[in-house]
Amino acid sequence: MQVIDGKLTSATIKQEIAAEVDKIKANGGRAPHLAAVLVGNDPASETYVSSKVKSCKEVGFTSTELRFPADMSEEELLQLVDKLNNQEDLDGYIVQLPLPKHIDETKVLMAINPDKDVDGFHPCNLGKMMTGLPTFIPATPAGIMELLTRYGVETSGKQCVVIGRSNIVGTPMSVLMSRKGADSTVTICHSRTKNLKEITLQADILIVALGKPKFVTADMVKPGATIIDVGIHRVPSSETKSGFRLVGDVDYAEVAPKCSFITPVPGGVGPMTIVSLLQNTLKAYRFRTEG
Ligand code: GUN
Repeated sequence: MQVIDGKLTSATIKQEIAAEVDKIKANGGRAPHLAAVLVGNDPASETYVSSKVKSCKEVGFTSTELRFPADMSEEELLQLVDKLNNQEDLDGYIVQLPLPKHIDETKVLMAINPDKDVDGFHPCNLGKMMTGLPTFIPATPAGIMELLTRYGVETSGKQCVVIGRSNIVGTPMSVLMSRKGADSTVTICHSRTKNLKEITLQADILIVALGKPKFVTADMVKPGATIIDVGIHRVPSSETKSGFRLVGDVDYAEVAPKCSFITPVPGGVGPMTIVSLLQNTLKAYRFRTEG
């Protein structure tokens, strides 16, 4: 069994990006610039946005954090989006989700200029991904593809089962795994799926993104499978000083001995999502400055 180390891989990729940025600056270019918009004070979102901004600094990007109170109106947010769409020195930006209930998320995502949509959430970019055109791939699926490639996990002709059909992870993941290059045969499972265990037992590659702690147990896993765990949950623990620990959607302790590759939580998929965002920002920068 080999642990897929997302922390190490993300550190390597950050070094690669930093080297690219050094080259750009040495040639007289400006640094790529990412902005992150945070509305409200959801603690998880605050942590994510801080990590994104910190990672920008590590690779030499310019970053802007834009924070607003939870009662910001939809109109005000749409005006900000319009301003960012037209800001010359800004290559890409994200609006951190979830947004407060009174703001229509789809309306906001649709208003983002697709050329600056480094999350890859605009239908225009999702459509390009579906048809294999160059675009911004959503960060979590992009990070998973990068891990599979860098660890030499064979995907061609393999049975891939994705649990979860969200717009951000499950759906784009299933598309990427079935496309030319990855060439897997893909099954998507969700809350209405019957005989889930029967299906997961067929999986050579099992990608789990349903958001339930330790949902996948050893009896659901084919021996020798590759397991990608997208979940991250805080659960109470008497063994840590903080009183909690992080677990994924997979029961790591019992599943790990059965598989050929597995991503841990924390330190698996999580750190890769941020580097994917940095990679997308570099792509946006090149698109804007080099065409
Ligand atoms: N909320 C959870 N994941 C994401 C993400 O990848 N991008 C944004 N904008 N919000 C999120």
